[in-house]
Amino acid sequence: MPASSLQVAPPTNVVEASKQLAAWTAVDKHVTKDCQVIGIGSGSTVPYVVERIVAQGPEINKDRVFIPTGFQSKELIVDAHLRLGDVDQYPHIDVTIDGADEVDKDLNCIKGGGACHLREKVLAEAADTWIIVADYRKNSEVLGVNWKKGVPVEVAPFAYAKVLHNLRTLGSTDPKLRMAVMKAGPIVSDNGNFIIDAPFGEAEMRDPMTLLTRIKMLTGVVEVGLFCHMAKAVYFGNQDGSVTAK
Ligand code: 5RP
Repeated sequence: MPASSLQVAPPTNVVEASKQLAAWTAVDKHVTKDCQVIGIGSGSTVPYVVERIVAQGPEINKDRVFIPTGFQSKELIVDAHLRLGDVDQYPHIDVTIDGADEVDKDLNCIKGGGACHLREKVLAEAADTWIIVADYRKNSEVLGVNWKKGVPVEVAPFAYAKVLHNLRTLGSTDPKLRMAVMKAGPIVSDNGNFIIDAPFGEAEMRDPMTLLTRIKMLTGVVEVGLFCHMAKAVYFGNQDGSVTAK
């Protein structure tokens, strides 16, 4: 295998720069020499994670294996000439680094803006250490304040209409099946399922664990994009070049 390398375009605006800052800070702190099995999350912040890991050098990376959370991160790992693994072979991961759509004061997260939250949660649970990296726009007191689209819910296609009805009964204001551009059809996840975005009011979002449990109980729901009490640390890159660590 050729030595690891990756071309990531340098940040051209403050949001991108803050993603890069968060990602680099997290890698420097948590992807230590003894990390051999590394989970790679999804989204636009994660390429900076891989970029920084590659910069640790081929000597360190040649003995490591990298587990993706979806198609995008698989491509990233392959493009960087890093060794690709699967959670089947490596059910125990040293560290997984991922992005988030929003993080509250207790490190609970909304994830699934990219429809990858089932695999992301599997890799979060499989990891000794699960770390989140994000730009300053994701840092909230309460979930749902900045991320208005709702809680991503992955559903078996057969059950989507029933689950939409169930979500309304649970108090979701206007749950919607996520559609491809031009409403060409429903978005289909890497697992062949549909995604519903279910907005809830502040009362429900203040207790994400209860909400997660209620949604997860609905037959047809495969996974919910609420990640409660899972993150060991979260790094936000700020506009002024500082990093907020939670
Ligand atoms: C995908 C995710 C992403 O991690 C989340 O959407 C954050 O993405 P970005 O880094 O582009 O803001 O949960 O399912």
